[in-house]
Amino acid sequence: MCGIVGYVGERRAAPVVLDGLRRLEYRGYDSAGVAVIAEGELRSVRRVGFVAALEAAVPANLPGHTGIGHTRWATHGGVTEANAHPHLDSTNRIAVCHNGIIENHSVLRARLEEEGVVFRSETDTEVLAHLISKFYTGDPEAAVRQTLGHLQGTWGIAVIFADHPGLIVAARNGSPLVVGKGEGETFIASDPHALAAYTRQVVYLEDRDIVTIRATGWTVSRLDGAGVSRGVELLGEEWTSEGRGDFSHHMLKEIHEQPESLARCLLGRVVPDEGGARLGGLDLSPRDIAAIRHVRVLGCGTSFHAGLVGAAAMEGLARIPATAEIASEFRYRNPVVAPDDIFFAISQSGETADTLGAVREVQIKGGSVLGVVNVVGSSIARSCGRGVYVHSGPEIAVASTKAFTSQVAAMLVASLSFARTRVLGPHEGKAFGEELLSVPSRVAEWIGSEAPGLMDAVELCTQGKFVFFLGRGVSHAVALEGALKLKEVAYIPCMAYPAAEMKHGPIALLDKRTPVVVVVPDDVMRDKILSSVQEVRARGARVIVVHTEGDEAAKRLADVSIAVPRSSTLISPLFTVLPLQLLAFRAGLALGRDIDRPRNLAKSVTVE
Ligand code: AGP
Repeated sequence: MCGIVGYVGERRAAPVVLDGLRRLEYRGYDSAGVAVIAEGELRSVRRVGFVAALEAAVPANLPGHTGIGHTRWATHGGVTEANAHPHLDSTNRIAVCHNGIIENHSVLRARLEEEGVVFRSETDTEVLAHLISKFYTGDPEAAVRQTLGHLQGTWGIAVIFADHPGLIVAARNGSPLVVGKGEGETFIASDPHALAAYTRQVVYLEDRDIVTIRATGWTVSRLDGAGVSRGVELLGEEWTSEGRGDFSHHMLKEIHEQPESLARCLLGRVVPDEGGARLGGLDLSPRDIAAIRHVRVLGCGTSFHAGLVGAAAMEGLARIPATAEIASEFRYRNPVVAPDDIFFAISQSGETADTLGAVREVQIKGGSVLGVVNVVGSSIARSCGRGVYVHSGPEIAVASTKAFTSQVAAMLVASLSFARTRVLGPHEGKAFGEELLSVPSRVAEWIGSEAPGLMDAVELCTQGKFVFFLGRGVSHAVALEGALKLKEVAYIPCMAYPAAEMKHGPIALLDKRTPVVVVVPDDVMRDKILSSVQEVRARGARVIVVHTEGDEAAKRLADVSIAVPRSSTLISPLFTVLPLQLLAFRAGLALGRDIDRPRNLAKSVTVE
């Protein structure tokens, strides 16, 4: 959703800020703006639409070495230029970019209006500009601190003052901010991805931190004025990779990156010689693992689907009762949290408000929650304090692909580790570990040979009324994920069901124009799913079957068949999801969709 970038240093600020905003485009936004301090004045430009429109409107060679910029995803007020950030105070000497929501903005606005302030937008953010102006007596940080003391809600803000070229004041509470350390230049951003081209040295701010940034360094203090020091961390090398390379779309690039992202996730964690796995970040002793009574997995969207596979592995392999739940539902149902439950919160971005809310609910109730997160230093990772980084690297396309397979892999590794402690002997553990380690190269092989059948499947799906996805067990999770991808990327209405549930109602919807995608790896449920395929065919529907290579019976039942490598059941989602990701991509392409930035969606959903 919204993004912030700020720069102070030797270079001209506008191009650096615009470049950072471009790198944040993937988060989803509807307008953008930039403000720089040039020749003692604030120069601000805002535009509705893409950063390219803003870039075209910013004067070439705009001087000024201090600037801030923003991409806005509308919450308070429509998508208009007046509502785009940065917002200026009435003197046009202070500019503010803000992520988050100021909950008491109407009260503050009414008070300011009584004092004669004339508002120029409908946003909650504008109150910040006017309050800072009201409290400003020459000390920028003091004015920001005093303003924040009046706010309820969440914020990540960056503020510049025309009187103070060479300085940015920023603050965080519930919306992430990271400082980037360069040589004689300093950056601020809501997402380290915006900075990766300039520096790998970053400082993650904590909630209620205020930072004052200059080209030569920064000072961090707490909202109450206490001083604090925050260490510099090094961004993983994978975060510096940028662009689409030779690929037409980020989504396609990310699908093809799965062999490397999976290898990074498994590297050094699976230890076949011990028949187990090491995940130091979980910080659980064998005694702790032995005491777990129930594993509970939380996530939203794709991360929830990965959680379903994770829960199945915890139960199937480690023999611990396990369930997965949608985080947004969990947080508001006053859940029972037992002391011997262990929770996993799965999130690619680490910023999903619903998942973060669920984490806090678990913690309030005294539960232990481990993060399974991609973005290092993100709010969920910090809130959990321990867990597993999945190391997918930056995922830019809104539709999650490589993060899903890495999340599944991370949960399989955690399940292997728990299983080895509780029930698994070294030989069985070794076999599972070795199979896991073989996945990246087998995925590479499969992806390298564009699946025969894929384009026929695309034709069926793009011409159908809507598409059904069926599977059982972990393949039901894959069916849900395939349906989500096709909805997001191609805007084709889809439904996913556990195959046996079809006959309890949804089968009434089937006719010749409803293609049905069936995920049927060769495992104990295969014969039962093939019976469901027969039932579907008997209603005239066309069937696309994703099956294990060499499964001739499955192939014979299909109108279109797509084979994937053979694997054990719990590992099969790492293969069966691949054709479904490509199906969504190719269908989106065939229908002319904006694949990397589907309508209405944001990459990280930081509001409820
Ligand atoms: C996936 O394709 C979606 N864009 C979406 O469902 C996503 O998985 C969900 O919003 C959760 O995001 P997170 O993993 O960053 O928490």
